[in-house]
Amino acid sequence: VRKLFVIGIGTGNPEHLTVQAVKLLQTVDVVFVLDKGADKADLAHVRRELCERYIGHDHYSLIELQDIPRDARVESYVSRVEQWHDRRSSVYERALREHLGEDGRGAILVWGDPALYDSTLRILQSIVSQDRAAFEYEVVPGISSPQALAARHKIPLNRIGGAVHVTTGRRLQQGLPQCADDVVVMLDGDCAFQALAEPGLEIYWGAYLGTEHEILIAGPHARKKDEIVRARAAAKAKHGWIMDTYLLRRPVDAGEER
Ligand SMILES: C[S@@+](CC[C@H](N)C(=O)[O-])C[C@H]1O[C@@H](n2cnc3c(N)ncnc32)[C@H](O)[C@@H]1O
Repeated sequence: VRKLFVIGIGTGNPEHLTVQAVKLLQTVDVVFVLDKGADKADLAHVRRELCERYIGHDHYSLIELQDIPRDARVESYVSRVEQWHDRRSSVYERALREHLGEDGRGAILVWGDPALYDSTLRILQSIVSQDRAAFEYEVVPGISSPQALAARHKIPLNRIGGAVHVTTGRRLQQGLPQCADDVVVMLDGDCAFQALAEPGLEIYWGAYLGTEHEILIAGPHARKKDEIVRARAAAKAKHGWIMDTYLLRRPVDAGEER
């Protein structure tokens, strides 16, 4: 039976790949990567480099799957994403049939960790549950962007006994959640942190974490937010793309007041 490894590759630093991932990569016949378009050419380059660096032989094929853009005409966000996942799952299914022999071993390289804001596992699960292609799969964890962020700022994500809430920029637009004093925000193309005005808030921001373009800014949110907006715009103009993640930290005694 076909075997597929879903491998988290970290957020750009080739040395973030685990030993488990490297060992498995050396055993596969095919490596699949999802090409998210020209803007992310740097990211595709990182993945190609990982294969060259760690596989150590050239009897494997690297298959770039073309990503499908979301259909902006579908109004509901959830329906739009569901439709997009359906179309992506057809791409995966076809690729598995075409490129992986009956007993073939393949790897799908996933940015960061596959468990965090990535659709690969949902898509594979739906293919398997509909019996659309016979294969087994395993997941190999990778370093996620919140982990990379915390490491680079040399901070733990939680305070003693505290909760950490991980959310998206889209949700942050509705305000800072009340369920945690430490909030990690991903997928924020619009600098949703700008609109917040909670006294005493700290921000730890990181862009291109793990890559050669990495930028880190940290400090009081009120004082740093404009600097981050400016740095983000300039870096995006320079590189043509940006990925950033940040932690918003309420002051220690904020919880007592709520
Ligand atoms: C589609 S999600 C993928 C997350 C990924 N699975 C992970 O574990 O980090 C993309 C978001 O991850 C964050 N991200 C990914 N790579 C990053 C990096 N190198 N630096 C900063 N943030 C990153 C950004 O918030 C970006 O919008």
